[in-house]
Amino acid sequence: MQKNVMKKGAAVVLVAAVTLGAGMAMFAGCAPEKAERVKTVQIEDGVVDPAQWGKAYPAEYELWKKTGEPTPAGKSKYKRGYDVGQERPDKLDEYPFLALLYNGWAMGSEYSEPRGHLFMLKDQQAVDPGRYKAGGSCLTCKTPYAPKLSKAGVAYFGKPYPEVLNQIPQEHQQLGVSCVDCHNNRDMSLRVSRDFTLGKALEKIGVDSSKLTQQDMRTLVCAQCHVTYSILKDGQMHSTDVMFPWDGGKWGKITIENIIAKLRSNAPSGEWTQSVTGFKLAFIRHPEFELFSNNSVHWQAGVACSDCHMPYTKVGTKKVSDHRVTSPLKNEMKACQQCHAESPEWLRQQVFAIQDRTMSAYIRSGYATATVAKLFEMANKANASGKKVDQVLYNQARSDYEEAFYRVVFIGAENSSGFHNPSESLRILNDASMHAGKAEGLLRQALTKAGVNVPVQIDLELPKYLNNRGAKKLMFKASDEIKDPLAGK
Ligand code: HEC
Ligand code: HEC
Ligand code: HEC
Ligand code: HEC
Repeated sequence: MQKNVMKKGAAVVLVAAVTLGAGMAMFAGCAPEKAERVKTVQIEDGVVDPAQWGKAYPAEYELWKKTGEPTPAGKSKYKRGYDVGQERPDKLDEYPFLALLYNGWAMGSEYSEPRGHLFMLKDQQAVDPGRYKAGGSCLTCKTPYAPKLSKAGVAYFGKPYPEVLNQIPQEHQQLGVSCVDCHNNRDMSLRVSRDFTLGKALEKIGVDSSKLTQQDMRTLVCAQCHVTYSILKDGQMHSTDVMFPWDGGKWGKITIENIIAKLRSNAPSGEWTQSVTGFKLAFIRHPEFELFSNNSVHWQAGVACSDCHMPYTKVGTKKVSDHRVTSPLKNEMKACQQCHAESPEWLRQQVFAIQDRTMSAYIRSGYATATVAKLFEMANKANASGKKVDQVLYNQARSDYEEAFYRVVFIGAENSSGFHNPSESLRILNDASMHAGKAEGLLRQALTKAGVNVPVQIDLELPKYLNNRGAKKLMFKASDEIKDPLAGK
């Protein structure tokens, strides 16, 4: 299991000093303090209502409720989820090439940045209705009742969303991530409540769940939802299951290559048709666990998701885990300071430097991939008008295009803008650009051979994809666009 360098509460400091890059920062001592053990009050079996749990654990409950409040503005550069006084940005406005790439299904209509846990079901019900066409399977991550619902088997996954939602008690139809998602009611230990998804996936990568440490669990409770999944379909395109494409992966090494191989070889995961190219494609969602656990520096050092997103905090005289789960940047870098001695401002600048490099590479590879999509549109038109487009070149280009596309989707859907694993993020984006470049070359060759005159500059026609999006007819909000932070460099 994960190397446990960071023994919580251990008397012996195992990592004595850490130097950050060229800086001379020293580790303050690497053992984050442990919250005080609170006497465990028994919560009755089957109680979902967090207010009931809150009667026994008021400090955690009050912090948890704050995930429903707006977060401080001006602290985070790339993750302005739901900041005070601001509207929640849409990824399609932030990164306009996504509107082109995702055109053809609801992800291309509305794709809001995430916000606090209390909102998760509310937001799902407010989003473009096309987004939950897949049915009950959409509720897998989104309600504490999912484990119960899943007992109905395949029927649950494929039934219309409103029908499954109505099986949840009325007063909890908008309830977000709850105590019962992460805790065992009998002793408050951490638990994986979603055996039917994460449990199966861990088995697939050979994890013996009896050997998981407490530190592993501090990551795995999050990995129940902060992972990618595919919705499997039957012949009639009804959803039949939720699957994590981890085949061939190992603990600490679920690679983008594994994931893409699984998605591309598995026809039923072709969930949608990209309108620009006409290709049936799969999708990748919020792969925080996959990116972080793939040999990142912090994973190697035994750090867990909860160390950074639920640091210990004082409530009165009590020390508790901060159940207001959010970006560490919106919490004055307190989490980082459990281990790093530098000032909050210095640490924030480290995060921004990593994110700038990643987002620059992301935006560049995104536009390169969108350009290839437009070349496919030209090639398809040429074919339809009777011109002979070389199929060998076309198919090779398609293969490179899909390799590029999934890498761009992966980094764009991962919510740390590169911080969770800086070097792996850049490696993935380099490969995306390389594949997009190859695909572009092949297509230009095929089009020229077919007698089509290809301009040097390809017009992406972005306004066509950015405006009048979906049922809500959303318009491009240019003020939210995130421009290449390293443009010209
Ligand atoms: C039951 C599923 C589930 C679990 C378990 C879960 N999350 Fe989330 N998380 C979500 C969803 C869904 C959102 C987005 C909610 C929205 O935008 O409406 C989210 C949002 C977040 C955010 C963004 C908060 C903000 O202020 O913008 C962070 C950070 C986060 N989760 C971290 C974690 C960590 C760390 C853990 C484990 C300790 C965890 N999550 C466990 C589903 C989950
Ligand atoms: C997203 C997952 C998640 C949710 C939801 C969650 N917790 Fe926790 N909780 C944790 C983690 C992680 C810890 C730290 C466990 C450890 O390492 O000992 C924790 C610790 C605790 C502890 C032990 C003392 C402490 O603060 O460290 C209590 C009590 C607790 N949680 C109560 C609650 C209550 C009550 C709710 C619902 C209002 C809740 N939790 C919701 C993940 C969660
Ligand atoms: C070493 C600290 C660290 C660890 C470990 C870590 N994160 Fe993060 N996480 C961050 C930072 C820093 C950001 C960037 C926040 C920002 O830009 O505002 C972030 C961003 C996020 C976001 C987006 C937050 C938002 O406001 O939209 C989510 C969700 C998230 N992390 C979940 C996880 C999960 C799940 C894990 C474990 C698999 C994890 N993190 C492990 C530090 C960490
Ligand atoms: C539980 C302890 C712990 C926490 C919490 C933690 N770190 Fe670290 N961090 C480490 C260790 C250990 C290393 C590895 C040092 C080495 O081997 O050089 C490291 C390395 C780094 C590095 C250099 C490696 C890289 O990935 O670029 C940066 C930057 C960094 N941390 C920033 C942060 C920030 C920002 C936060 C808070 C969001 C944070 N850390 C939270 C322990 C921690």
